[in-house]
Order: sequence, then structure tokens, then C-alpha cells
Amino acid sequence: MQKKKIAIMGLGTVGGGAYDILTRNREYIMSTQDIDIEVAAILDRDETPLIRRGIAKSLFCSDIDKLAANGDIELVIETMGGVEPAKTFITKLLRSGKSVVTANKELLAKHWTELTRLAEQNGVGLYFEASCVGGVPIIRALGESLQGDRIQSVYGIINGTTNYILSKMSTENIDYTGALADAQKLGFAEADPKSDVEGYDAAYKLSILASLAFHTVVPYESVYREGITKITGADIVNAHALGYEIKLLAVCKRDGDTVEARVHPALVSRSHPLAAVSGAYNAVYLNGDSVGDLMFFGAGAGASPTGSAIVSDTVKALKGPRCCDFGGDRSDDNIKFAGDFTSGYYMCVTVDDKPGVLGKICTVLSDNGVSIKSALQREGTGERTTLLLLTHRASERSITAAMGEIEKLPVVAAVESMIRVL
Ligand code: NDP
Ligand code: HSE
Repeated sequence: MQKKKIAIMGLGTVGGGAYDILTRNREYIMSTQDIDIEVAAILDRDETPLIRRGIAKSLFCSDIDKLAANGDIELVIETMGGVEPAKTFITKLLRSGKSVVTANKELLAKHWTELTRLAEQNGVGLYFEASCVGGVPIIRALGESLQGDRIQSVYGIINGTTNYILSKMSTENIDYTGALADAQKLGFAEADPKSDVEGYDAAYKLSILASLAFHTVVPYESVYREGITKITGADIVNAHALGYEIKLLAVCKRDGDTVEARVHPALVSRSHPLAAVSGAYNAVYLNGDSVGDLMFFGAGAGASPTGSAIVSDTVKALKGPRCCDFGGDRSDDNIKFAGDFTSGYYMCVTVDDKPGVLGKICTVLSDNGVSIKSALQREGTGERTTLLLLTHRASERSITAAMGEIEKLPVVAAVESMIRVL
């Protein structure tokens, strides 16, 4: 039986979840994995999180240099979050010959290449299963299970907080603010929930997933990003009337040397498997040229599911060869990142309730090369009415140009919303 000592930096939601699993399942892991993992040190701002869990204060450590110099500790779990001081701390640990397991997608998306190189140079590992899609083993699947495939596309619901908010708005008519407060209480949201609702968290994760899927660095800055803050209860009601749910969708595709990566709200037909993914659940729906369609589903956030991913990486790192080379950290100079993309669109337009209005809107769309798939008129007030339009696939440039012209039509009071359609 191998005995291993590890440390945790940041005993919050995820670090605490990992600690609980390592403690509760210590004997089970010993019996199934032939390895005894002891949490021998915990770094946090103060002792409060240790006291809350009844952990001996002697495990508390506030000095990263002491932790890095502690020769008994082989691996450190980083669950503090944020770029600094996490990056400095991880750098010191890798340099001192310790492997690191992290849930920190922001840090990885911003400094993956540098940190991976550092791990390689020091003969240690950097593991990050917990950084994307909570407890769903998608990193392992992309890095170790699909080597025979060229991945063509990945569609995902990869942020638990926004999916929780949209689901609550969709099924329980709970408003945005109330649903966000719930998600924060449940420990799904980031320290600054702007990262969730404005789509940054999903963009960081998509940068990681796309880099692994396409075997080249897809910088998070190249991911088009739009959050859910403009989605209203009316949008959700209208989407339902058309047979759709609204989801914060992450999409990446590779066509030859061109990679397209985007995060934005989208109408998802209720007949698509992603439409049924609700609450803090996440899913990744991908297509490989050999395997075909695959869907991964599970809890995308929270202490225990994410803790499970951390423990999985910890066991793997302590048992296996000290590296983690999935080949997503290398840039391919030939790759171009798409600036425009095509999609179907949903539009909600408030217009004068009189003859010929739909015709005028159709003319503008058609002049811009956009064709209408279906139109629904909501019951109006007499003077005004609402049109719900779904278009066939069109380029972002065409639809933006058309919208600009539609807004200026004298018969149009307002373009209330425009949302892409999966
Ligand atoms: P929490 O805020 O719950 O926990 C972070 C812990 O680290 C807290 O105890 C915090 O102390 C401590 N900490 C933060 N900064 C420092 C510092 N500079 N020095 C010492 N201690 C520090 O965050 P989460 O557990 O939710 O998230 C942690 C990481 O996991 C993030 O990278 C997040 O993106 C990622 N993640 C989170 C998931 C979730 O469901 N919550 C799921 C997947 C990934 P204090 O509270 O005093 O600030
Ligand atoms: N804030 C993140 C989410 C945590 O809601 O998905 C999981 O990465």
C-alpha cells in the first residue's frame, strides 16, 4: 500500500467537497486503488474553514513557501480560484516538484501553455478535470478516449449557474435575481457571479474544451461571448410558444484550419437532447468523425460533483506517471479563428398592428439574404402587436445589417430581442 500526503489550497465549496470525499472514502480508495491519501496540510486565508469542518488546526498553513518546501507533500489541490495568487502559488509548487490538481478554469484558460510547460520541465503533473463541467469526466474523455477521432463539433451547456437560472425562470417563473441568489447560496456561482451570467466562465471552459478537442490552443479571447443578462421572462414564454427552451450554449467547430468558438444564449428545440438538461446539470454533445454523436451529462457544479473530479485527478496523479499531456497546449500557426458565423435566429419585434407590416420586414430580411422559416403573431393591443420570427441559417453580418434596417422602419416600435437558434 502506497501512503501519500497531499495538501489543499482553498477549503471552500470545491476544496471542502474534495476534502469530504477524501476523508469519507479514504478506506474505500485504499481498498480499490491500493493507495492511502492523507490530507496533511490546508492553506487558506485563516483557520475558519478548518474549524467549521472540525479539522485539527495543526493542519493549517498560511505560508506558500513553507508548503512548497514541505518534502512530505507530493501533490497539492488548488481550489482557491482566480488568477493571482493562484498562479504564483502553483508556479512555486510545480517548481518544487509537486503535482497540482486544479479546478481553476480562469487560470488555465489564461495561462495553460506556461503552466503545462512548467509542469513538464519539473517532471510533475498538472491536472484539471474539475475545471470543466463539474463531475462530468469530459477532460479525460477528450484527452484519453477519443484519440482515434477528429472532433468536428462540440455543443455544450457548460455553466451550472446560468442553466440553473434559466431553468428556474422557465419552469417556476422565478425571476432572474431570485434564481441567481439561489445559485449563489447553493455554491454553484463564481466568487464574482458576473463571470457566470456574462458568459466568461463558459468562455474559459470552452477555450479548454476546444483546445483539447482540436489539439491546438484556442485562446479564450478568440471565443465570442455573450451572457444571459438580457434574457427576459417574455423571451422564455415566447420560446416556449415556438417549441424551444433558452440555454446558454457553448459551441465550437473545426472546419479545416478554421475554428469557430462561441458562447451565447440560444433557442434549443425541445426535441434536442440539450433542451432537457435543466438546473445545475450540464451536458456536452460532440461529434467525432469515427465515433459519431456522443453526449456527456451530469452535475456541472457544486461541492460533491466537482470534488469527485478533483479526487479522480488526485488518485490518477498519485498512482500514474507524472505528466498530463493531452496536446491541447500547443499552438498550430495555420489555425484561423472565425470572425463571422452562421446560425438560425429568433426575433421578437413590436410593430404597428396594420396590414403590410410583416411584408416590409420580410423585404428587409430578404434584401440582406435572410430567409424567414416561420412567423407567429401574438395577440396585440389593437394599435401594436408582437411578431415572433424564426429565420433560416444566415450569417451574423447579414442578420445584424437587417436588424439595423428593421429598427428604422416607421412601422416598427422596437426590436425587443434577437437570439440565435441551435
Ligand atoms: P470558494 O470561494 O467557495 O472557495 C475558495 C476558498 O479559497 C475559500 O476558502 C477562500 O477563502 C480561499 N481563498 C481564496 N483566495 C485565497 C487566497 N488568496 N489565499 C488563501 N485562501 C484563499 O470557491 P469555490 O470552491 O466555489 O471555487 C474554487 C475554484 O473552483 C474556482 O476556481 C472555481 O472556478 C472552481 N470551480 C467551482 C465550482 C463550484 O461549483 N463552485 C465547480 C468547478 C470549478 P475566502 O472565502 O476567505 O475568500
Ligand atoms: N460557476 C461555475 C458554474 C462552477 O456555475 O458552472 C462550475 O464550474
